[in-house]
Amino acid sequence: MIYLDANATTPIDPEVLEVMLPFLRDHYANPSASYSSARVVKKALVMAREQVAALIDAAPDEIVFTSGGTESNNAAIGSALTLSHPRKSHFITVKTEHPAVLEPAKRWSESERYVSYLDVDHQGLLDAEELKSCVKEGQTALVSVMWANNETGVLSPIEKAAQYAHDHGAMFHTDAVQAMGKIPVSVKTTPIDYLSMSGHKFHAPKGVGALFISRRVRFKPWILGGGQEFGRRSGSENMASIVAMGKAAEMMRERLSHEGAVAIKSMRDAFEKMIMVALPDTKVNGSLEHRLPNTSSLCFPGVDAAAMLILLDEKGVACSAGSACHAEALHPSRVLEAMGCDAVHAGSTLRFSWSHFNTMAETVIAADLVIACVSKFKSLTVAGSVKLN
Ligand SMILES: Cc1ncc(COP(=O)(O)O)c(C=O)c1O
Repeated sequence: MIYLDANATTPIDPEVLEVMLPFLRDHYANPSASYSSARVVKKALVMAREQVAALIDAAPDEIVFTSGGTESNNAAIGSALTLSHPRKSHFITVKTEHPAVLEPAKRWSESERYVSYLDVDHQGLLDAEELKSCVKEGQTALVSVMWANNETGVLSPIEKAAQYAHDHGAMFHTDAVQAMGKIPVSVKTTPIDYLSMSGHKFHAPKGVGALFISRRVRFKPWILGGGQEFGRRSGSENMASIVAMGKAAEMMRERLSHEGAVAIKSMRDAFEKMIMVALPDTKVNGSLEHRLPNTSSLCFPGVDAAAMLILLDEKGVACSAGSACHAEALHPSRVLEAMGCDAVHAGSTLRFSWSHFNTMAETVIAADLVIACVSKFKSLTVAGSVKLN
């Protein structure tokens, strides 16, 4: 199988698996225990925290391990909106955010908070000036803007958004789940208060993530209990996965500083070029300039994305229509809708996304297969009978 769905999840890196296995097999002690076998585990927890912190230029005590991006988003939003209430009850976010932000926003709007949902333009870009005019001094508690969009890869103007939030006394959260390991992310250069990460998007297992909480801000814990994670996220630590996330973070940092991101971009660009030459009516969704190097959201006019998924799966190519990580059934993409695309356009869109595990050779094969499947689909629809074999 040619796996081009890295934005949904990535395979565990063999080196990551290697470091996590002893924590499933041998090092089972609870890191809070006092005997010597627990000290090995405690040491590994400290190291994983340092490794994750280093990926975003944070201090280790600003990192809290969670169960993933969804929990991190819920915890950050819940903390900010609880701490500021009833003084400030305004929350600003963007229409193209992941459901792990939009659903908490909806829930909080049921309890005396009001939410503003910012628009994006037809390229998926947020206008930072519009954000600026929406932040209300003394009223806005939190601004949450994702670093990179999961469906289109479009990047947000994070520096400006964070600055404008702070200029008016609001806290700033970013869902950086899709940005981590793909582009440099630094909390040193950008004034961020909360930042969400997810291990399975960069070759650690599913079910582990982290929340960066700046030393500048307070945090109201969401999950209460035994006081693990500096009292910020209770529950015995998911050690094997935490160790894995630490190792994966270290490897991504290394790859980012070398050739990694460039190699991924050249695969994505070669893929798009082949498709554009063979199928010139194909449209790229989202800004070409402000986009993750690994993501390609393509609209094939006249083609049914659901049928294409089946055809491509039969040929051994895994990709997705819209965002595959939160639903089994296909439904119109809220992201494309917010960009002004109609249902027909959205229904003809496929997302391809690359990771370090892909090769140029398989990328070329995948492009040929996509071209063949789209051409076949078009010829069948012209003939009036669509058969999926
Ligand atoms: C932008 C974004 N935020 C949050 C999440 C949720 O992360 P997790 O699967 O770790 O809960 C995802 C998952 O696809 C995502 O793409």
